Amino acid sequence: MEKKTLFSEKIVKIGPDSGYDNYIMAIESSCDETACAIVKNGREVVANIVASQIKTHEKFGGVIPEIAAREHLDAINVVVQEAFNQSGLTPDKITAFAGTVGPGLVGCLLVGLNAAKTLALTHDKPFIGVNHLNAHLCANYIDTELRPPFMALLVSGGHTQIIDVESYSKQTIIGETIDDAVGEAYDKVARLIGLPYPGGPRLDKLAQVGNSKAFELPEGKVDGYNFSFSGLKTAVLRLVKSFDGKELPVNDICASFQECVSKTLVKKLKKALQERGYKQVVIAGGVAANSEIRKKVFALENEGYHVCAPAMKYCTDNASMVASCAYFNTNTFDDIDVEVFSRA
Ligand code: KG4
Ligand code: ZN
Repeated sequence: MEKKTLFSEKIVKIGPDSGYDNYIMAIESSCDETACAIVKNGREVVANIVASQIKTHEKFGGVIPEIAAREHLDAINVVVQEAFNQSGLTPDKITAFAGTVGPGLVGCLLVGLNAAKTLALTHDKPFIGVNHLNAHLCANYIDTELRPPFMALLVSGGHTQIIDVESYSKQTIIGETIDDAVGEAYDKVARLIGLPYPGGPRLDKLAQVGNSKAFELPEGKVDGYNFSFSGLKTAVLRLVKSFDGKELPVNDICASFQECVSKTLVKKLKKALQERGYKQVVIAGGVAANSEIRKKVFALENEGYHVCAPAMKYCTDNASMVASCAYFNTNTFDDIDVEVFSRA
């Protein structure tokens, strides 16, 4: 890939064919994490800084977009400086600056994207805009030798997709949720049973000590590789109401819900693998940190598949995955005028 520096319009080669070591600095601020990272050649993390806003949003039970944007503004310069400090690199050693363009919260994205554009302009380096979902997939390139083609299950707070990854830049969504995303279902069910924000990881913890066969919950029935989780959420609501104020068997509800979700996801993923003849499979996105989903996907190794999942810290939002995506992916937004977008 060839990109241009912004002032002098020098050509800069980027990516696996560039013939020299690339150091990409990236910024991620699409939701409630302000993150900055520097990644060498798309796979080796030399700095990874994440400022989480969980403490701020905890008291509201969810992310408040305006407050999140203001917190990004407070944190952005600190995380950028920290990334330089951690790497020991100076800005002149950076090959290009990347930032998340969308999807995400518009006010939040604006902070990180403008910081990345400003860094690129002031240091006369190429600017690379990245799609947040592509970036989640690229978390699988960090610390691995993984190369496409592979099938991917992307599960996050806003998305649930099965993606056919034919090459670094050719990705086709072949299935997705028709209603709630998996992470959203986790967070909503967590709230229903009284768990504090962020519900997903807390629900996962309790599920691990519950009985997954305690309650029979319905799998969403949808065609092809698509998913539906709103019926399951309603079933949990009905189940909770049936206890009529009596103490809830919280661990068993969590385990039964988690069993139903993970079974559904892996069933569709396996169908896609078989029908498309793939031997490699990856998971990505915040919910890829889930213990049962990881367990069931890794069990596919016993059936001869090569399975890859990012380390926990690269599943949830971070900037290393954005830097990796800027290095490998040709579907980037290189125009300095690119605007943030909220939905895919
Ligand atoms: O990818 P991510 O950090 O942000 C988005 O791009 O959406 O994903 C956040 C989502 C949240 O819904 C959170 O509850 C969920 O991932 N999550 C989990 C776990 N860890 C994070 N859900 C279930 N089990 C987990 N261990
Ligand atoms: Zn994300």
